[in-house]
Amino acid sequence: MLTSRPSIRCTETDVEGMRKSGRIVAEVLWEMIDHLRPGMTTLKLDELAGKYLKKFGAKSAPKIMGLPSHTCISVNEIIAHGIPNRRILRCGDKVNIDVSAEHNGYFGDVAYTVIIGESTHETNPLLTTAKSATLKAIKASVAGTPINKISKIIEQEARKNGYTIIRNLCSHGLGKCLHAYPQNISNYENPEETLVLQEGMFLAWEPYISSGAIRAIGAENDWNLTTHDQSEVAQFEHTILVTNGKPEILTVLP
Ligand code: CO
Ligand code: CO
Repeated sequence: MLTSRPSIRCTETDVEGMRKSGRIVAEVLWEMIDHLRPGMTTLKLDELAGKYLKKFGAKSAPKIMGLPSHTCISVNEIIAHGIPNRRILRCGDKVNIDVSAEHNGYFGDVAYTVIIGESTHETNPLLTTAKSATLKAIKASVAGTPINKISKIIEQEARKNGYTIIRNLCSHGLGKCLHAYPQNISNYENPEETLVLQEGMFLAWEPYISSGAIRAIGAENDWNLTTHDQSEVAQFEHTILVTNGKPEILTVLP
């Protein structure tokens, strides 16, 4: 049986609030990407994010959750939740920047993976696949669609290109908190998932696409995640509003 509870009550105020917070995290992400240079530390890049979040009157979600940094910056073998530090960025490094923040009670969440020195992701098949997996999931996110159908689309996109899904990192609902109903959305086909998308849901699709690993594991501290075999991993994340038609991506710049 397909389930669609609890019903989503989303007001115009909520939509406006989410549009604003989505816009802010996107602005901060693109400022960071614009300033990304070989020779700088991830700490320096994170300081810049802190400056911009303050300028926009937004609070870093990682800080709210007790992390020491404003954003997560994951380099090469660190695939997610990377805590910025004195690591120096070099040409060819794969860098995932994840910006999540609260503004006026609403949360936005966005992430991109870039390779330093390469102006576009289009030359890298892993990044291309990771981006298309997220975009295909977004495109399919129309009210009335079973979530598992979308998860299957993501998994198929990865497989078709010879990649795997990191199965223990999920997509999620968000709104007045960073991880809200529906939480823990699988990025692979999961027949136990019976939820159907409803108009007014805010979702963050963020599949992690990998060259082979299927699990993220803890690295040298409590937060940094890696893989058992140093697989290459890429991820793109957007916050969207589900409607009865085309979904609205809240974390793109106009
Ligand atoms: Co997220
Ligand atoms: Co995120």
